Amino acid sequence: MASLSPQPRKLPADEEPADPKTALLTPPVPSPSSPSSPSPSRFLFAFLLVTTCISLAISSAFAFLLLTSNSKPVKEVARSLSKLPHPVVILISSDGFRFGYQFKTSTPNIHRLIRNGTEAETGLIPVFPTLTFPNHYSIVTGLYPTYHGIINNRFTDPVTGEVFTMQSHESKWWLGEPLWETVVNQGKKAATFFWPGSEVKKGKWSCPDKYCQHYNGSVPFEERVDTVLGYFDLPSNEMPVFITLYFEDPDHQGHQVGPDDPEITNAVAHIDSLIGRLISGLEKRGVFEDVTVILLGDHGMVGTCDKKLIYLEDLSPWIEIESEWVQSTTPVLAITPPSNVSLAEVVSKMNEGLSSGKIEHGNYLKMFLKEDLPTRLHYAASYRIPPIIGLLQEGYKVELKRSDNKECGGAHGYDNTNFSMRTIFIAHGPQFGKGRKVKSFENVQIYNVIASILKLKGAANNGSESFADNILLES
Ligand SMILES: *[C@@H]1O[C@H](CO)[C@@H](O)[C@H](O)[C@H]1NC(C)=O
Ligand SMILES: *[C@@H]1O[C@H](CO)[C@@H](O)[C@H](O)[C@H]1NC(C)=O
Ligand SMILES: *[C@@H]1O[C@H](CO)[C@@H](O)[C@H](O)[C@H]1NC(C)=O
Ligand SMILES: *[C@@H]1O[C@H](CO)[C@@H](O)[C@H](O)[C@H]1NC(C)=O
Ligand SMILES: *[C@@H]1O[C@H](CO)[C@@H](O)[C@H](O)[C@H]1NC(C)=O
Ligand SMILES: [Zn+2]
Repeated sequence: MASLSPQPRKLPADEEPADPKTALLTPPVPSPSSPSSPSPSRFLFAFLLVTTCISLAISSAFAFLLLTSNSKPVKEVARSLSKLPHPVVILISSDGFRFGYQFKTSTPNIHRLIRNGTEAETGLIPVFPTLTFPNHYSIVTGLYPTYHGIINNRFTDPVTGEVFTMQSHESKWWLGEPLWETVVNQGKKAATFFWPGSEVKKGKWSCPDKYCQHYNGSVPFEERVDTVLGYFDLPSNEMPVFITLYFEDPDHQGHQVGPDDPEITNAVAHIDSLIGRLISGLEKRGVFEDVTVILLGDHGMVGTCDKKLIYLEDLSPWIEIESEWVQSTTPVLAITPPSNVSLAEVVSKMNEGLSSGKIEHGNYLKMFLKEDLPTRLHYAASYRIPPIIGLLQEGYKVELKRSDNKECGGAHGYDNTNFSMRTIFIAHGPQFGKGRKVKSFENVQIYNVIASILKLKGAANNGSESFADNILLES
């Protein structure tokens, strides 16, 4: 269970919004209640209008050719704000929005952002483990889970024995400096309509009632969008410069039915309609071109089935794994044996069994001492990470022993190099190039990008110094 939502959500029943492309192609139909009598002067006027338009179009086309043929293409630069007094960033997360879902059905609103914005062409790379809480908090801190402390959705502090859950809001768990804290520490306003960690009081961030919503998965998505829109009606000194918006879907459906079910298609269409609702609300206020909208997800999703299970009880000829040692099973197998048991021996005996050819699907799981994990995973340097970690191939699951549970669904948490774990990054706003594609990047880069748009001094983090300059247009 990696969804934030404890309650089952009802399925979206919204109508699909009209595709603006087809709307443009459809000629307006004269309404029968307003008859128009054609007269010769009207025809002449229309004729002159059409010919003027055609000649204008031809001359501007020639002018364009002349201007572009012997000079370099005009470099796109950041556009200045026309209405807002200061830059505003809305950071939207659609949980479990696997890269590629945007092509499952018609998503005219998401594609509007893509066409006039900047997109990670092959998706956004999550951090390991590709789980909801670690990734959301990496997005807003720029830190790998090792350094921001949320190393899993649920874990035990090995020193105090205390358990972190998705309901833990004490600041001792949440290290690093999230964006809302960076914003308020520097005298500006931030607002959160849900985000893991947003209810935690840190620095000058006190999660004030006016700007910080306490998590409640039953709040309709439409209400979340409308509340965010309401911030743009505030006087400019009360208007937040940074706003988060969170949707539990399509992760919620993905866990139940896997990534290839029509339920996912419906959930994606619903998310698209919410993006449409946000865009039209911003347009109504005349601020859509001024606001920076960043639409992303935390991780992808892959289908899982009971045919891809590995049972730890099968290892007993090599080593007996006690259930109390096991901190988590799928997709990150994390083991903390008691102190009188050799860690290296547990790893080697488990791997001996798994690679023996005698354990069903054994080759799809490999055990490591955490310090021996591939360094690209950045999953060692925290005392909170259990000493033994097993990496599973995507789609496989681990269970302690056989049971009658027979079900197929979806999961995430696997190696972040796997494409199935990738999600989307789409950014639209004055500092993002129109129709621009960039290479995939890790979500720890996003903190610096938002800090740069908001002209804030960012805290130390794991994003690179140059990334923001490369993805943002020159001011
Ligand atoms: C894209 O931006 C241009 C202005 O640069 C605007 O005319 C056009 O309507 C926008 N397209 C969409 C789909 O928003
Ligand atoms: C959660 O939201 C629902 C829908 O808005 C509301 O009916 C319910 O009272 C809320 N629960 C809490 C604990 O605030
Ligand atoms: C470790 O200690 C426990 C009791 O604390 C004991 O039951 C167990 O046999 C010991 N294991 C080894 C390998 O010595
Ligand atoms: C997932 O990533 C691991 C590590 O890079 C790799 O060995 C494996 O082949 C990948 N699986 C797929 C299906 O791409
Ligand atoms: C990540 O950032 C933290 C905080 O600045 C730093 O302590 C750590 O060394 C960084 N790790 C990597 C791998 O860059
Ligand atoms: Zn998630």
